[in-house]
Amino acid sequence: MARKQYKAHFTTKTQQITRAGWDPLAHWYDGWVGKDGSHHHRQLAIPSLLELLHLQAGEDVLDIGAGQGVLAPYIARTQANYVGVEVSPRLLRLARQRHGNTGTFLQGDARYLARIPGIQQASFDAAVFLLSIQDMNPLQPIMDAVAWALRGGGRIVIVMTHPCFRIPRQSGWGWQEDRKLQYRRIDRYLTPLTIPMKPYPGQTQGTTLSFHRPLEHYVNGLARSGLLLDQMREITTYKTTSQGPHSHAENLAHQEIPLFLAIRARKTT
Ligand SMILES: C[S@@+](CC[C@H](N)C(=O)[O-])C[C@H]1O[C@@H](n2cnc3c(N)ncnc32)[C@H](O)[C@@H]1O
Repeated sequence: MARKQYKAHFTTKTQQITRAGWDPLAHWYDGWVGKDGSHHHRQLAIPSLLELLHLQAGEDVLDIGAGQGVLAPYIARTQANYVGVEVSPRLLRLARQRHGNTGTFLQGDARYLARIPGIQQASFDAAVFLLSIQDMNPLQPIMDAVAWALRGGGRIVIVMTHPCFRIPRQSGWGWQEDRKLQYRRIDRYLTPLTIPMKPYPGQTQGTTLSFHRPLEHYVNGLARSGLLLDQMREITTYKTTSQGPHSHAENLAHQEIPLFLAIRARKTT
């Protein structure tokens, strides 16, 4: 498909989906994540986030796109103070029910943190995005809002699907028979895309949007808001294949190609 047509195709669908956002999926998502987090949360995303955050007791942490609040108890266990911001009213309600005893949950849009009662300028030591930034758009106002909310020297930690290797509908595994090799196929990378997500197993209603951006958009967007990158983790899956004729090659590929990325940046002023 030519580039122009391709973009138009996604834009029409996008307009219908953004209005509802995550609300129609709230109960399905809450069931999938549960009290302590999905396997992805527990094995990969939350440990990487906590490692890069390196929290101290008494620090103030802002979780942006908090969902049903899965991160709150993990932050509370470090004796830091947790505030979650979530735009979906249903997810916010679920977060308060599940984890209201371990933190504060506020409704609002990541682009407009200054409009949320209870959030003040330069009042947080850290801001985090746990598997949420790729669901948010546009990036720059969000980075500006985070920089506004952070204290000088404060840090931002983002855990996301890897923008180089995991591009919904535009990447996947392949098998090259003559080399007995599992490879990763990337069809598109540099063009930012708005992608309606396919339903997850067990998900009966609602579709969300994923926003693909090349890595340079993240690094340059952070820098434009005065947030300078100082750490990165490229995270491979915890899954291993034990059976099947390709299991050795599959495991090798899974250990070489990271499907998640964690980055940390610091507010310079
Ligand atoms: C994949 S979920 C991740 C939720 C949670 N961090 C977790 O790991 O379970 C993405 C979340 O981002 C929220 N979100 C998307 N755009 C947002 C925005 N502009 N402001 C605040 N939250 C937003 C969605 O409503 C959704 O709850």
